Amino acid sequence: MQPTAIDALLQETRTFPPSEAFRQQANINDPTIYERAAQDFVAFWAQQAEQLLEWFEPWQTPLEWQPPYAKWFVGGKLNACHNCVDRHVRTWRRNKAALIWEGEPGDTRVLTYGDLHREVQQFASALKSLGVRKGDRVCIYMPMIPEAVIAMLACARIGAPHSVVFGGFSAEALADRINDAQAKALVTADGGWRRGNIVPLKRNADDALRHTPSIETVIVYQRIGGDYTVNMQDGRDHWWHDLTRDAPLTCPPEPMDSEDLLYLLYTSGSTGKPKGIMHTTGGYMTGVTLTAKWVFDLKDEDIYWCTADVGWVTGHSYIVYGPLSNGATCILYEGAPDYPDRDRFWAIVEKYRATILYTAPTAIRAFMKWGEQYPQKHDLSSLRLLGSVGEPINPEAWMWYHEHIGGGRCPIVDTWWQTETGAIMITPLPGITTTKPGSATRPFPGIAAAILNDQGQPVDANHGGYLVITQPWPSMTRGLWGDPERFVQTYWSKFEGRYFTGDGARQDDDGYFWLLGRVDDVINVSGHRLSTMEVESALVDHPAVAEAAVIGIHHEIKGQGVAAFVIVKEGYTADEALQNTLKQHVAQKIGAIARPDQIIFTAELPKTRSGKIMRRLLRDIAEGRALGDTTTLADPAVVQALKEKYEGQEE
Ligand code: WTA
Repeated sequence: MQPTAIDALLQETRTFPPSEAFRQQANINDPTIYERAAQDFVAFWAQQAEQLLEWFEPWQTPLEWQPPYAKWFVGGKLNACHNCVDRHVRTWRRNKAALIWEGEPGDTRVLTYGDLHREVQQFASALKSLGVRKGDRVCIYMPMIPEAVIAMLACARIGAPHSVVFGGFSAEALADRINDAQAKALVTADGGWRRGNIVPLKRNADDALRHTPSIETVIVYQRIGGDYTVNMQDGRDHWWHDLTRDAPLTCPPEPMDSEDLLYLLYTSGSTGKPKGIMHTTGGYMTGVTLTAKWVFDLKDEDIYWCTADVGWVTGHSYIVYGPLSNGATCILYEGAPDYPDRDRFWAIVEKYRATILYTAPTAIRAFMKWGEQYPQKHDLSSLRLLGSVGEPINPEAWMWYHEHIGGGRCPIVDTWWQTETGAIMITPLPGITTTKPGSATRPFPGIAAAILNDQGQPVDANHGGYLVITQPWPSMTRGLWGDPERFVQTYWSKFEGRYFTGDGARQDDDGYFWLLGRVDDVINVSGHRLSTMEVESALVDHPAVAEAAVIGIHHEIKGQGVAAFVIVKEGYTADEALQNTLKQHVAQKIGAIARPDQIIFTAELPKTRSGKIMRRLLRDIAEGRALGDTTTLADPAVVQALKEKYEGQEE
């Protein structure tokens, strides 16, 4: 994060205790829960797992911990889909709305738990009829439509781990993820809608499928239809509606071992290759069910809206598994926040009388910029709780959210967590915690975090350091698919026996945590994780590029933007046209989220004597700071020249 932003955080003194009315009705309002959970965290989680989930068979041991490998609820049998759907249809919830879907061109659909039960079973039957078996990986590349959720739950039902790939990713990114997971089936749609345009999912998939030998079957949901035709390869590609039309209406949930893989989700790390984060069944379901219930204070009457895409972990844990396990009613929205107009979110809140809204700081900053006239056009009085996730929220955005969306009455839960942690880790509990704008406050009950220096010693209050989690938790990742070494290396080597998050943080005098952003080569663009090396590989893949170094730079709306320092090959002209070509090239290779905001041409890059690019200095240059220590550089003149050139370019 920016030094100026950090300074602002250090001066933040406003506090917001929960109102008495909110406190009284909250799912959890007893502050002693923190101590009680800390006294025996294993017993705490075991009790939650037993109370919150339905198990086909009880477990024998709550935790087996051989760092860095944890097994939770060992020997227990359950099914995630059964917990999200079947157990609700036995009750009055059969006729309760599970999903309220708002599609972009005005399409809407409501699926009750009963509908979900039927549709999931039909699709699960269809998957089985195509030969998908327990343990087979199924890739899902879908727009934000109910079928994305149905496909995920159907996979969970038959024990076939899903790997959802965000619909904004490119064909190449899709192919890489399919190949790494060795997925057997792909579920996609002809297209999706975004800002009135068709996102050509099947066409992208076709490009990917040329390089994905493991895929035997492709299932295509017809979202667009009409004149929009897609290529269907005989024997391989099937229409969703053909398969499900006559599929058996019942398909019993597979009893899964607590430690059986529920899903893979690829995320960016410090190297160019995305990593397949593994989540298993019992621990993950315990983590997301409890956090959804306590952090969002979910009640049967709530209309809950998480604006994330199911392609990210936030969608997995807090659109699908956490809320549905609690029997909640969830809004699912297909489009963009500014289409057809900038009041789209507020129109949806008003239309469905949403009570809980969970979104990202980048969206809030965009809303702030657009102005409060947009939320003011709508009745937002149904809202009772607001959430934030994905990146640090700056106090100004927090206050704007509080005043203009929450009407000054809604608690805000700023939730810190990661794809790897599976569930929310540091967060207020809305009926207990006095919040401070910009602070994620305290670890959730049963979670233990610390801030360490390079030597692994805890830092004093108000000092920055590395955020670590010091004891295992049920929803922690069980590792990286096919790469155990990288798992140990990335998360468990810096501080023995403790999970290294890759984030910097500090604690204030009250013990509140303030997140300071990533300390590794991961950048966070609009709440989406990108690795600098991923973008660098995409750039050097272009024939004009000899070498590239990518850094995250401060961006008013996106939190971070992408800046690329590029050395062009002989024979190419370093001009604006090439800048645009390269931006487009990266967007096409990875996805629009990775498109660089700035391309800075340079003759050389600052390197250490051992040849390592010094990104820290590039950040200093790009953000106009005084240059840090340059003594380790092979040639200090390079960076000085670059700085002068950059300052010249900016004017
Ligand atoms: C960042 C998203 C500050 C952080 C759930 C983390 C946050 C990365 C917050 C994980 C927050 C997420 N405050 N930073 N409330 N939430 N982050 O895996 O840097 O997509 O390491 O998971 O987002 O991103 P991921």
